[in-house]
Amino acid sequence: MIDQTLPLEWGDIAPSVQRFVDAATRRIDPLRDLCWDDIDGGRLTDLHVDALRLVTLVEDHLPGYFAAYNGKFPLDETTSLRDFAINREIYHYTVRWAQEEDRHAYLLSRYVVSAGIETQDGARAMLATQGRKHFQLPYESWPEIFAYTFLQEKFTQLYYQQLAAAVQEPVLRRLLRALAQDEGRHFVFFSHVLESALRRYGSALTPAIEHVVTTFQMPLASLLDGYWRLALRATDAVGGETQTSGYDDMLRLLQRTGIAPSAVAEVANAVTIRKG
Ligand SMILES: [Fe+2]
Ligand SMILES: [Fe+2]
Repeated sequence: MIDQTLPLEWGDIAPSVQRFVDAATRRIDPLRDLCWDDIDGGRLTDLHVDALRLVTLVEDHLPGYFAAYNGKFPLDETTSLRDFAINREIYHYTVRWAQEEDRHAYLLSRYVVSAGIETQDGARAMLATQGRKHFQLPYESWPEIFAYTFLQEKFTQLYYQQLAAAVQEPVLRRLLRALAQDEGRHFVFFSHVLESALRRYGSALTPAIEHVVTTFQMPLASLLDGYWRLALRATDAVGGETQTSGYDDMLRLLQRTGIAPSAVAEVANAVTIRKG
């Protein structure tokens, strides 16, 4: 059973935020000299175009994700002093993360138009139609939310790496590789938070992690028109199989934090069923 009463601790958030901020500060922008005129849209296949539509729609939903996270970790007078301090720390991450995700949305939607996939009007209509739909976090408790974001960032990183390797168009390849690097840093943040919390609470957190492994869906799966058709096309665009090693990263995290082998085995079982 998931224990909803375990408090999130400042000591699990603050060092993870500091590492993220330091890594983000050190980073040199790999797209600083990107040239939009170099795009050769003729080298994109129909499958790659549909994969691009899907990831653009998913990234473009950032205002909904940002609002959901801010709603989950509020910063107002309804919040206790203790929780406010923790939520304020989370916000140092969230606001930087949101800026990076918003840039992903901007770059991808600009690419879609620059490559001639959509007209400016067509792209605007497509993004507004889907973008205004209300996003809700699929989980309630903080261990579930952090396990969900851990997997979701990892799967996004892996997919961008796969898509970058599959496409022939050099500007898109470069763009996707840069996006994958950002998603990798986002994954590392959630990995640090979870690792710290797991060292504190041990196997009290594994039911939440098992629940997320069992029920995980990428964001917007139940929100976007035509999601599953686009998702199948996006899978075909990378050779018919998407990487699922994010689940193995979760297992390795549990193992290195010294969780009881019986609890790890429960999650491992869920992973095996999931990977089917
Ligand atoms: Fe992103
Ligand atoms: Fe991300």
